Amino acid sequence: MWYDATIEKVLIDDAAVQAKIRELGTQITADYAGKDLLLVGVLRGALLFIVDLARQIDLPLEMDFMAISSYGAATETSGVVRILKDLDTAIEGRHVLIVEDIIDSGLTLNYIVEHLRNRNPASIKICALLNKPSRRRVDVKIDYHGFDIPDEFVVGYGLDFRQRYRNVPFVGVLKPETYTAHPEE
Ligand code: IMP
Ligand code: MG
Repeated sequence: MWYDATIEKVLIDDAAVQAKIRELGTQITADYAGKDLLLVGVLRGALLFIVDLARQIDLPLEMDFMAISSYGAATETSGVVRILKDLDTAIEGRHVLIVEDIIDSGLTLNYIVEHLRNRNPASIKICALLNKPSRRRVDVKIDYHGFDIPDEFVVGYGLDFRQRYRNVPFVGVLKPETYTAHPEE
């Protein structure tokens, strides 16, 4: 494949990702039965995850999206969070489940939750595929959680390095020379 020469290792393969999503879908289906569920995907990293997750939830649901600036082209969070695209849906009185690709420092998610809480949803919960607990800077409660991973920058299954690698089917780590070949702008 086009990416083979740049990947150092596969952390979570395609089959493991899909198996975990089926588990999460089953759990969410049970927990939200009879409730008006709105999945909120955080663009762009959560795109692949929300699409696969939604297909594993056996309930009527709606999907909406937010876009947040976090890292820009770099691999470290600045701590500055900005909303680039807000929800199109009113969430007052609704059950909101935020779908995120990865929780790293937690700053992005913390900001989103506070922002949405002001609109008085009936409930607000978090579903994250990946979690880097060692990097946490603010406390975030993850209600549905896929995999804990070590403190390494990962790509694939929606996650990017300089906007590439989102379409890689697994979660993996790039070779160090792949980063140094592209110094930050
Ligand atoms: P946080 O605010 O530090 O928790 O950052 C969360 C966001 O940073 C995620 O939604 C990702 O878009 C991005 N991010 C964090 N860690 C990684 C990584 O290892 N690879 C790619 N993107 C990441
Ligand atoms: Mg993201």
